[in-house]
This record gives sequence, C-alpha cells and structure tokens, in this order.
Amino acid sequence: MTEIQPLVAGNWKMNGTRAALAEIEKLSRGLKGHPADGKADVMLCPPATLLAAAVEIGGIAVGAQDCHVNESGAHTGDISAEMLADAGAKAVIVGHSERRADHGESNATVAAKAEAVWRAGLTAIICVGESEAQRKSGDAIAVVTTQLRASVPKGATASNCTVAYEPVWAIGTGLTPTVDDVADMHAAIRTTLVETHGGDGAAMRVLYGGSVQPGNAQTLMAVENVNGALVGGASLKADDFLGIISAYA
Ligand code: PGA
Repeated sequence: MTEIQPLVAGNWKMNGTRAALAEIEKLSRGLKGHPADGKADVMLCPPATLLAAAVEIGGIAVGAQDCHVNESGAHTGDISAEMLADAGAKAVIVGHSERRADHGESNATVAAKAEAVWRAGLTAIICVGESEAQRKSGDAIAVVTTQLRASVPKGATASNCTVAYEPVWAIGTGLTPTVDDVADMHAAIRTTLVETHGGDGAAMRVLYGGSVQPGNAQTLMAVENVNGALVGGASLKADDFLGIISAYA
C-alpha cells in the first residue's frame, strides 16, 4: 500500500484578530522538536487578515480558507488564489460545508475554485460531507462519492490535492462518526478517487474533519485511509492543536 505522509490542518474560520498571533507563535514554538515532526505535516489556515503575519512568524505552513475563481477583477471583497499565494499561502481550503451552505457553493463552483488554486501553484484542500438527514437516511456514502466526483477536477494529483471528509453534523458539535463509519466512508472515498484519478487517487491524502479533539485524534487517525485531520475549534488553542498532532508522535 502507498505510504501517505499525513497532514494535520487547522481551520480558524472567522476567528482571530492580531491578539491571536500569540497563539500561532506558541504553536510554532511547540512544533520545534515535536515528537510528530517529520511524521506528519502541519498547516494552519487563519483568516485572510492574519495570513501574512502568520507566514512571518514562520515554523508552520500557512493556508487560506477560500478563494475566488478569477485571478483579478471587479469582485469587491473577494480574494484570488494568486493573492493568497503572494501573501505566502501554500494551500487553500475549497468547498467547506460552511461555504457550501452560507454562500450556496455548488460542486461545480468548488471544482472551479480548486482549478483556480492550481493555477496559482497551490494545493487545494477539497471538502465533502453529508448532512445529518443524509446520514440518517442511509445515503451518506452515495452523497459523498457523488460530491467527490463533481468537486475534484480531472487535474487533481496526489501533490496538488487533498480531500477532507467532514460530516456536516459532526462539525463543531462534539459528535463524531463511529470508527466503523469513518472506515467505511474513507474506503469508499479511496475507491472513488482511484476510479477517477488512478495512481494519484491512491496516493492522495484524505483527511477526516469534524470535532477532532486531543482525546479522540489517535483513534480517528488510526483508521485505514485516514491521512490526517482538518481541525476547526480545537486548532484555535496551540495546546489543543499540538495535542492532536501528537496522534502522530
Ligand atoms: P470542528 O470543525 O473541528 O470545530 O468540528 C471542523 C471543520 O469545520 O473543519
């Protein structure tokens, strides 16, 4: 089986002002000589306002949470992938369920954004996940694999693309799927990615996201085809985030 270097990525969402830079400094210090160093990659996606300052702190890869599909133009308030690359971002999260819900982003939009991320030379972290109703009705795997086929463009490779499975009902709720459900979903995602992207699909990282905490990270990260985590709330505090990274120590 292909060895996949895991990634633990933090998503601060719409949280953090300059006062929170102290937390990024603490995280950067904590990563130096961390027992998981070399065993897992780590990335933090702060709000765009803190991106350049986070890059300046150093010691941690920095990503963004969204981008516009165009390179520049009359799009008030939007930020292009090229601008994010210029600010020092290495990756961009696209298709997070909060963007799909709050901004009506379709799979086609998400795919176009992923291509914009590649145009800027960055890695796309493409999110998929079912709602609570879809999980309850037994449609979770069908929903997620359908999203995957429509959201991950042809040009995805193991190095320019990471997939994040985030069940919507597990985000920010403290709820997580069972280990068996995570294993079944990640296996289905892997099968789909191999079908659509061959060897790259086999080697692509597939993260789990949704209420990952220091206390459950080890269990979740040990599941087959889980190649890291996308962490929201618990990435806001350096100690919690470092505790999650320790799953790879
Ligand atoms: P959570 O968020 O860790 O706070 O559940 C995960 C995410 O939305 O990426």
